[in-house]
Amino acid sequence: MMFENEWFEKYKIGVALIDADHLNLFKEVERFNQHLQSGMSTEELGKSLSFLDKYVGAHFAREEILMREKGYPDYTQHKSLHLHLKKVVFAVRRVFETDIEKVDKVKLNQFLHDWLVEHILRVDTELVPYVNGPYGSKNSYANERLQFEPLNEEVTLDEEMVEITVKVPKSKQKVIERCAFALMQNTPEAQDLEEIALAATGMTIEEALELAGAVLY
Ligand SMILES: [Fe+2]
Ligand SMILES: [Fe+2]
Repeated sequence: MMFENEWFEKYKIGVALIDADHLNLFKEVERFNQHLQSGMSTEELGKSLSFLDKYVGAHFAREEILMREKGYPDYTQHKSLHLHLKKVVFAVRRVFETDIEKVDKVKLNQFLHDWLVEHILRVDTELVPYVNGPYGSKNSYANERLQFEPLNEEVTLDEEMVEITVKVPKSKQKVIERCAFALMQNTPEAQDLEEIALAATGMTIEEALELAGAVLY
């Protein structure tokens, strides 16, 4: 298959498991595309989305473990790109549950294809020198844990800060403060927290419509 050969040369990062994942993701997007040409049913779209959701999640987790093992310095930024795609897929599934007709299959197909190609080619291939090359595992994020500080000082971030007041059980006060601290520091764990929170509570339809906007009618 021509597509596979082309893929193999350009997108290989040299770690068998990760390369196999990438090939499977490409194949799924291709399958999605073929279904689309032959008129994709709602059921097929649903199946494809749930496959992508699970597979993308598992693949990102494997890649993130690899990055941590190798002490990859841009781990946090790379992980935040993964989180963004996961949120979009989550949002598309959320919209899909509510109003199937809103999801533009052609745009979704284009979006997934572009995202994967762009991400694997530009972002994942940056890992090459770290997985098989000259860079060692110095600078490992895992070795330099942050020290939690109670939240009373000003933190300067690029992003606008908002103040929120919430009432929580007294026994959970420290947990909430720790979560807020990690989120302000933008640690990789903060991104895990965001994902756990999303899985725990779901997404409002308004949030989902905004996040998935690019692939809706
Ligand atoms: Fe990847
Ligand atoms: Fe990646």
